[in-house]
Amino acid sequence: MKRVLVATGGGDCPGLNAVIRAIVYRASIEKDWEVLGSIQSFDGILKDETEVKVLDKDAVRGIHYRGGTIIGTTTKGGPFAWPVKKEDGSYEFEDRSDYMMDKLKELGVEAVISIGGDGSQRISQKLYEKGMNIIGVPKTIDNDLKATDFTFGFQTAVEVATDAVDKLNTTAASHNRILILEVMGRDAGWIALNSALAGGAEVCIIPEIPYDINKVVERIRRRYDKDGRGFANIVIAEGAKPLGGSALAEEYGEIGNENLKLSGAADRLARELKAAGITADIRTTVLGHIQRGGIPCAFDRNLATSFGVKAFEMVLEKQYGQMVAYRNFEVISVPLEEAIGSQKLVEPDSQMIHTAKGVGIAFGD
Ligand code: F6P
Repeated sequence: MKRVLVATGGGDCPGLNAVIRAIVYRASIEKDWEVLGSIQSFDGILKDETEVKVLDKDAVRGIHYRGGTIIGTTTKGGPFAWPVKKEDGSYEFEDRSDYMMDKLKELGVEAVISIGGDGSQRISQKLYEKGMNIIGVPKTIDNDLKATDFTFGFQTAVEVATDAVDKLNTTAASHNRILILEVMGRDAGWIALNSALAGGAEVCIIPEIPYDINKVVERIRRRYDKDGRGFANIVIAEGAKPLGGSALAEEYGEIGNENLKLSGAADRLARELKAAGITADIRTTVLGHIQRGGIPCAFDRNLATSFGVKAFEMVLEKQYGQMVAYRNFEVISVPLEEAIGSQKLVEPDSQMIHTAKGVGIAFGD
């Protein structure tokens, strides 16, 4: 029996289970392959007591529409920065990659499929350079990887955010309020832009277009005075920054890597609007991890399934050091080296921004 190890790393994302299921189903066609899942990302291998799970068809049947990942994940540590507690209670980080390579040999693992975001794929590249037979599968709700047109999880996040805009619309209208919705995306504005457009928000603030608060105020006043509508919906990305200022994550530490994470872009904007003389009631909603949990939409399930099948076929073809990607309606493979570190941000002069402005959405520019 040949063995392939699957790990899910970084933040979870709707569609992870669909990838796992697809790998297992595709592998089962080959008869001589067994799929192992490493529990809690690579921790299952890196820990002194190995924690892996045999993933057969029974183990993955029906999981394609379940959120999260059945093998768990973590955003901390990894083979090159394994946390070791010192006597004084603090941590030092050690390189456990050799240990990992030995452990995989012991387990008879021929190849590894690492499903994860940019950080996980950087690790994949380093492991590949060390000689590991590894293949990457990209995932992030942020959709900010240049190598692929879409990542699974993104459309689901946009659906959740759009649903929130729709709901906020009716309550904003009833109370004549300004409602500000903060969405995820790290330093990319894809979720904000797509949900603001789909939900028909009045203002959309994204990191790629630093906002001038006076311009936002102008749009709100026009909405009240000229358009005669006594309410407004604003969608703001968590990484938004005012002109000349910085995103709150830049000020208070990197998003997503702390035990405690507080958002703040929506609250900051609310305060700025008040300070600029807006008298209407303002309320903020931070959508948070609701965007990441729960059932993946059909597009994400299908994209994830295509990624899983392709990833296993890349193992069969020994296309190591490559990552699965989706480009121009095709699932392809690209070198990991090319894929990592190339972030796809919203272009301020793109068609989509043009469309949004065409239906009256203001960006504060
Ligand atoms: O990258 C995905 C993402 O959900 C970002 O949109 C968000 O900034 C971050 O992860 C949150 O990370 P955590 O779950 O660690 O708070």
